[in-house]
Amino acid sequence: MTDSETTAQSARPSTLFAEPFVADDSPTVESCARIVESESGVLLGDAERVLKMFPDQSVQMVVTSPPYWSLRDYHIDGQIGLEKSVYQYIERLADVFDEVKRVLKDDGTFWLNIGDSYTSGGRKWRAPDGKNRARAMSVRPDTPEGLKPKELIGVPWRLAFALQSRGWYLRSDIVWDKPNCQPESVKDRPTKCHEYMFLLSKSERYKYDVDAVKGPNGRRIRDVWSVNTRSYKEASGHFAIFPIELIEPCIQFGSGEGDLVLDPFMGAGTSAVAASRLGRRFVGIELNPDYYNLSLNRLCAEGLFIRREIGE
Ligand SMILES: C[S@@+](CC[C@H](N)C(=O)[O-])C[C@H]1O[C@@H](n2cnc3c(N)ncnc32)[C@H](O)[C@@H]1O
Repeated sequence: MTDSETTAQSARPSTLFAEPFVADDSPTVESCARIVESESGVLLGDAERVLKMFPDQSVQMVVTSPPYWSLRDYHIDGQIGLEKSVYQYIERLADVFDEVKRVLKDDGTFWLNIGDSYTSGGRKWRAPDGKNRARAMSVRPDTPEGLKPKELIGVPWRLAFALQSRGWYLRSDIVWDKPNCQPESVKDRPTKCHEYMFLLSKSERYKYDVDAVKGPNGRRIRDVWSVNTRSYKEASGHFAIFPIELIEPCIQFGSGEGDLVLDPFMGAGTSAVAASRLGRRFVGIELNPDYYNLSLNRLCAEGLFIRREIGE
């Protein structure tokens, strides 16, 4: 990362967070309450349904990358991202983020990574994507009402405005510049090489350690972050994981050691790894059992101990 590469390392604790992770494949109100009170855990289930089991104001910060609209098929019933209309998608995500707001402490922050997409240009089928099997969706959704074929939809900003209208404070739009972005075949516009990371808060004043990460020459971090995309070998071709370098600064700005970090769309557990490396507690939710298991393997590979939650 060009703008935050220097002193980020110095704030790192020397050991990983020592407590075991609880693996809970059928979370309950009781198990959720216990995990968010004093443990770390990865929970299997639908984000909104599981979040409803969390107590109010139990999480210090949230960092997540939800499924993008109409981009990937995660092959699981109940997944977000395959709604027929982009407006339904935004409403559904905003509903999940209402729950995120409820469980977030009043001085907490929400770091939301989201990318954009284009209307279909009249094509009904998405060509198979050899580089990324999960992108090979069989049907492209209709052009959303009010838009024309070939248009940039503006999903991140539509979502940001929806969250503002539901009471969130939109504090920053950080541009994630991807120096190694995929080439595109289009010849009538520039190649897209960025996504957004929005910083939202629940209140006007919130926990934010401005000195946690510094840019070059000790100056304050700016709002364009250059970070290469990464593929995770075990999940390769299945979905996008976010690079750990993108989320470490978010966690460092928004939380202190021992604080609880939440990712409601955990995927392969990148945020779990980042949070534990930084000495934070973590709780993540994932709908797809394959990715849930992938995250557990990844945490084991980090040297973290996993304790299985045994239901009644
Ligand atoms: C963009 S990926 C997250 C990747 C993650 N940031 C990482 O680095 O591995 C979005 C994830 O959301 C999951 N997902 C989709 N619908 C969900 C739902 N209703 N509840 C919880 N997770 C869901 C998908 O299975 C996918 O793993």
